[in-house]
Amino acid sequence: MTAAKQDRLKIAVQKSGRLTDHSLDLLTRCGLKYSRGRDELICFGENMPVDVLLVRDDDIPGLVHEDICDLGIVGQNIITERRLELTTRAQPSPFMERTLLDYGHCRLAFGMPERDDNDRPVDGQRIATSYPAIVQDFLVREAIDAQVVEFSGAVEIAPRLGKADIICDLVSTGATLKAHGLREGETVLESRAQLIQTPVELSADKTQWVERLLRRIDGVMQVRESKYIMLHAPRAALAKIRDLLPGSESPTIIPLEGLDDKVAIHAVCRETVFWETLEDLQRAGATSVLVLPVEKMLA
Ligand code: PRP
Ligand code: ZN
Repeated sequence: MTAAKQDRLKIAVQKSGRLTDHSLDLLTRCGLKYSRGRDELICFGENMPVDVLLVRDDDIPGLVHEDICDLGIVGQNIITERRLELTTRAQPSPFMERTLLDYGHCRLAFGMPERDDNDRPVDGQRIATSYPAIVQDFLVREAIDAQVVEFSGAVEIAPRLGKADIICDLVSTGATLKAHGLREGETVLESRAQLIQTPVELSADKTQWVERLLRRIDGVMQVRESKYIMLHAPRAALAKIRDLLPGSESPTIIPLEGLDDKVAIHAVCRETVFWETLEDLQRAGATSVLVLPVEKMLA
């Protein structure tokens, strides 16, 4: 391997699944242009020294922990499972947990057959899961004497096969549980995508690129939340309306021709603008309220 090649940042991303499209889209929005290798498993960065490896999500913490990849994007469910698994084997800090991302929201929850009235396991039950360390940790914390049965896939069918009484698996829409006649119980862990980094110290060059990428990721996520709001407000209600604008610094106040008692307010809001906020603004006297998306922003 040449020195130049070694200095390229390697990011592990899920090959096909709930995080794939979002993760590649995030890197593209950070300015990365890439071409896919012939095996489709590596995206070579053309305009930055960054390559993306497309791998199984379960392999991502290991690839980052073993310093084969510098960064990885993976669900907190998998991060937590691997961290617990390694700490029980007395291997501390397997990787650095960095920016939490704004996609991949799901939860690790119990799934109960309809005839089971509980929302969580009870003593003596068997729980099928691909997250044995997280479930075991939950059982110890809650002092429940139940048994974990490890499944690597198709956890949902375990109760019907008589291999378990209940399951603990990822739920996002709940469709999979429903399709298998299971009811969603207690949530064990909320999860979303997160960036992890190798525990090994990076070269100065790589460190610079990591920090640059992290700043761009923050920018991309901020813009996704940001909206440009325009509205008309009675001068008398100005203070109240300014207070209602979510996450905006100093709004622009513009006089309206021929209307002495009214002004136009333009503001960039850096937080989600909910319908409730618009209704509050309206109640405070705002009219002609317009909310526009923000394409790019340099803070
Ligand atoms: C999870 C889980 C279910 C499904 C639930 O699998 O194992 O099969 O998602 O989603 P739903 O509530 O929207 O139906 P995932 O796609 O993460 O694949 P993996 O666990 O095999 O990586
Ligand atoms: Zn998986």
